[in-house]
Amino acid sequence: MRADIHLIPSSPLPRGISERSVVVIDILRATSVIVRALSQGVLEIIPVATVEEAFEMAKRCPPDTTFLGGERGSRKIEGFDLGNSPGEYGTERVNGKRLILTTTNGTKAFHSVSAGRVIMAGSFFNMGAIARHCLDLGRDLLVYPSGDMGRFSLEDTVCGGMLIDRILKEGKEPVALTDAGQSALLLYRRFKENPVEALRLSTHGSDLIKRGFEEDLSYCARVDITGIVPIFRNGVIRIGEGI
Ligand code: MLT
Repeated sequence: MRADIHLIPSSPLPRGISERSVVVIDILRATSVIVRALSQGVLEIIPVATVEEAFEMAKRCPPDTTFLGGERGSRKIEGFDLGNSPGEYGTERVNGKRLILTTTNGTKAFHSVSAGRVIMAGSFFNMGAIARHCLDLGRDLLVYPSGDMGRFSLEDTVCGGMLIDRILKEGKEPVALTDAGQSALLLYRRFKENPVEALRLSTHGSDLIKRGFEEDLSYCARVDITGIVPIFRNGVIRIGEGI
């Protein structure tokens, strides 16, 4: 198995993605919201790129079981039901419903890697489950940090490094790392005792603090609180069946 990470989202995707497992990571905060919402009983999530698409999609879904979530400029979008703080997605609000989600970077990332063989949503919340599923699949891995407007992001890369670290520790077969994979691993080891430090140092983390969302940083840094593996297939994210 070979483990790679796509450090710069705006750079061209590597060849052979259609044979690889892909893990999309947007710690602050799209994939943290996705994992949290599904763990609290959301039936499915439709990630869309724009606010207009979200409203259009909502018109085609049953209104009593569909709700809109996401952010622009980190804040809840006018006319939406929820913002992009994972703590908002408690079972009493979301259980049994369909979420249409649009965020600045994270929801677009799923569409950028839609050619992947198996596409998962990863966060600190479900890191152990994602690592085990990648090992079970046994395919070459591409970690896809969704970054910040096409740029490198510290927090997503540190989480990607944690995934690589788990795979190296738990895998029975040898794992070859690309230079990017090796770099993410080294970065993760710098922050492994205190991942929230990486979130606080990151550009998006400090923007979230300035905008009043400081609590989301420690919330999103909680590790292994659920065993679900969300899978993106045919435009929809659901908990993987038989996982
Ligand atoms: C994103 O997709 O860029 C993030 O989730 C943005 C945020 O939550 O502030």
